[in-house]
Amino acid sequence: MRKIKIAPSIMCADLLNLERDVRRLEKGGARLFHFDIMDGTFVPNIALGAGIVKAVRASTRHPLDTHLMIIHPEKYIRQFADAGSDIISIHAEATVHLDRALQAIKDAGARPAVALNPSTPLNSIRHVLDKTEVVLVMAVNPGFAGQAFIPGTVRKVADLRKMLQENGAERVEIEVDGCVNDRTIAMFLEAGANIFVGGTAGIFTKEGTDITASLSRLYANARSSLKDILRKGGAGSRKWWTQKN
Ligand code: DX5
Ligand code: ZN
Repeated sequence: MRKIKIAPSIMCADLLNLERDVRRLEKGGARLFHFDIMDGTFVPNIALGAGIVKAVRASTRHPLDTHLMIIHPEKYIRQFADAGSDIISIHAEATVHLDRALQAIKDAGARPAVALNPSTPLNSIRHVLDKTEVVLVMAVNPGFAGQAFIPGTVRKVADLRKMLQENGAERVEIEVDGCVNDRTIAMFLEAGANIFVGGTAGIFTKEGTDITASLSRLYANARSSLKDILRKGGAGSRKWWTQKN
């Protein structure tokens, strides 16, 4: 059975009390943590680095999901793998050697993932699906937390699921990043995504919020939405969700 995974975005946590937040998120059900790495060139913002991945690595046994929003990602793959990343996503738009870079992630011992900006067509990854374990679909333009959701990305996830099925790549997981909340998660689950980045929309909703409670609520609502989808949906969606990965 495909598993729902909600990966809290470390960028949105309280960096002065990061270990405390990691514990609170684990208590709320976190089994994957997401790192937004920004270089100020690929995206108009600068955030996080390999040091923070390494620090969290020492504090949790759960997998770490590193999202490189940087140009020339191939230069830093080894560094982020060595810091303890289990999944490394690179943007298809950020390298002219996507196939080579995905191979480099695998060679460095991490799970290769490819990320797509909202306006990047799915066709740009069709020929690297055999080297990809996760496709990360941006539901906002990358660079900042707290942005407005781009509705067309739901259709994009549904098209991606179709493309994976047509290419015998059902084992690939679909991750959504940006504006993940109860409402959007239900739409993306129906479209076929199973990994969700939780930022200010769904977990760190305001300063001082109880992040254990907000994460476990987000999980509970996602699970009940999926139950409804499987109950109402046809054999097609049941087949997708029971696929082992
Ligand atoms: C954008 C970031 C955000 C963030 C998620 O580049 O990757 O998607 O972590 O946060 P919210 O929920 O604020 O969109
Ligand atoms: Zn991200």
